[in-house]
Amino acid sequence: MDDPRPELLDFHGVSMTRYFTDNWENIQNFKARPDDILIATYPKAGTTWVSNILDLLYFGRREKAIPIYERVPFIEILHPGFGSGTEYANNLPTSPRLIKTHLPIQLVPKSFWEQNCRIVYVARNAKDNAVSFFHFDRMTKIQPEPGDWSSYLQRFMQGKMVFGSWYDHVNNWWKKKETYTNLHYMFFEDMVEDTGREIDKLCSFLGLTPSAEEKTRIVGGVQFDNMKKDEMVNYSTSAVMDFKISPFMRKGKVSDWKNHFTVAQNEEFDQDYKKKMKDTTLQFRTEV
Ligand code: A3P
Repeated sequence: MDDPRPELLDFHGVSMTRYFTDNWENIQNFKARPDDILIATYPKAGTTWVSNILDLLYFGRREKAIPIYERVPFIEILHPGFGSGTEYANNLPTSPRLIKTHLPIQLVPKSFWEQNCRIVYVARNAKDNAVSFFHFDRMTKIQPEPGDWSSYLQRFMQGKMVFGSWYDHVNNWWKKKETYTNLHYMFFEDMVEDTGREIDKLCSFLGLTPSAEEKTRIVGGVQFDNMKKDEMVNYSTSAVMDFKISPFMRKGKVSDWKNHFTVAQNEEFDQDYKKKMKDTTLQFRTEV
C-alpha cells in the first residue's frame, strides 16, 4: 500500500496511470452481455451516487454488506488494494451486471457496443469536477500527486489528468448520443436539484417501474448525508484513501468551485472553456 504514487503516462493519446492500463488485454477483450449496464463518467462526476441508485433499483437492500466497488466493478482497474476489475465483473453473480468505467469513449471495450448495452453517462460541470478531483487526488494514494491548486487547475485545462481531458470526455460521450440510442446522459447538477425527477428519467430509460414506496426509500437512502454514513458506499473500507486528508463523500454540492477559484483563475478558465467548448451543444450549470 505504500508504493510511491504513480506517474501519468500517455496511453493512446490519453493521460492515464498504470493502474488502469496494466490489464489492458483483458479490458479490451472483456465480453459484455446484452443486459450489462455500463455506468460511464469522468472521475468525480457522481459515479458512486448513480451506481448506488442503480444497485438499489435493481437489487434493493442486500442482506450481505458488500462495498460498492465490488457490487459495481470498476472495469479498468488493476491494483492490489482493489483487485482486478475485469475479474470482479466476470465473477459478478447478478443479472444485470452493473459495471463502472471512467474510460474516454474511444477506449471502451468494443463488446459493450456490439452487445448494444445500456449505458448511463453522468457529467458534472468542469469547475466543480476539477475541485472534487483535486481533493480526491490529495487523499487517494494511488493517484498522482496533485501539487497545489493553481498548478492542478492548469493541468486540468491541459487535460493532464488521469483519464485525460474533461472537455474531450464529456463532449465525445455527448456526441455518441446522436448515433447510439441506448445511452442516457445525465448531469450531477440535475441530481442535486431534484434526485427524484432524475431517478424517474433513469427508470424510464431502463424500463423499470418501482413502487412509490420503493422510490421514496431510494430517494431518501441516496441523499448525501445518508450515503456519507454508509460504509458500503463511502469508501471508508478502502485502504488507499486517507480520510484524514479529505473524505470521499466530501461536500456533494454544486458551486463549491467558488470557494477555490480566484477571480483571475475564474476569468482564465472561462476564456479557455469558451474556446474548448465552442463546437458543442452541451451545456452545464455551475449553479443551481
Ligand atoms: P465532492 O468532492 O464535490 O463532494 P465519484 O463518485 O464520481 O467519485 O464522485 C464523487 C463526488 O460525488 C463527490 O463530490 C461526492 O461528495 C459526490 N457525491 C457522492 N454521493 C453523493 C450524493 N448522494 N449526493 C451528492 N453528492 C454526492
